[in-house]
Amino acid sequence: MPLLEKCTRMEDWFATDNQFNQLYPLPMQLLARRHWTPLGVARKAAAFLATGDKVRILDIGSGVGKFCLAAAYYQPNAFYTGIEQRKNLIGHAEAAKEILQLKNASFINGNFTQTDFSHYDHFYFYNAFYENLAELNRIDDSIDYSGELYNYYNRYLYRQLAQKPSGTRLAAFHSLEDEMPPDYHVVGMEMDGLLKFWVKI
Ligand SMILES: C[S@@+](CC[C@H](N)C(=O)[O-])C[C@H]1O[C@@H](n2cnc3c(N)ncnc32)[C@H](O)[C@@H]1O
Repeated sequence: MPLLEKCTRMEDWFATDNQFNQLYPLPMQLLARRHWTPLGVARKAAAFLATGDKVRILDIGSGVGKFCLAAAYYQPNAFYTGIEQRKNLIGHAEAAKEILQLKNASFINGNFTQTDFSHYDHFYFYNAFYENLAELNRIDDSIDYSGELYNYYNRYLYRQLAQKPSGTRLAAFHSLEDEMPPDYHVVGMEMDGLLKFWVKI
């Protein structure tokens, strides 16, 4: 049965993670458990980040767009942008967005170091740089990995976050916290600390 006949109503896609993941081709579905944000996490993180109307949220390393699309559905008054280095993943994100017809999410292909952080109010981060350390936890072999890159990306993100104004929020899932400047404080956590909510003081 074609995908579109399986879910005729928007809310059906969001009924379970398995259902949502069917927006993607099978090889992407198989990566979901390790690499794409579960819907329950996206819902909680989106509620924390959507502080007001038209607030702009960046997902740093957006993969197939699961966080942005789910957050856009759960918090429709905020706008979500995903930056992703792998072009093929951007294609899957755009295709899923087309099916869901969500207007408040967009995707950019590139390295997050090319992003102007002043365009965004708050941030979501699902341990995007860890693939540089974990040989068994990689999406593919299309890019170079190294410990140096892991350190470089963390330092770069640390500096960007440090420059943001007081009140900036970050929701981090599975973070090792190397990217967090000292003036960001944990104001909440879920799932035994796997999902943490930070606010810059
Ligand atoms: C764990 S996945 C999370 C995907 C998405 N945020 C989600 O939660 O569903 C991390 C993603 O970050 C991307 N990534 C890693 N380093 C990056 C970089 N320097 N610039 C842009 N994307 C990056 C990877 O390609 C991967 O798709």
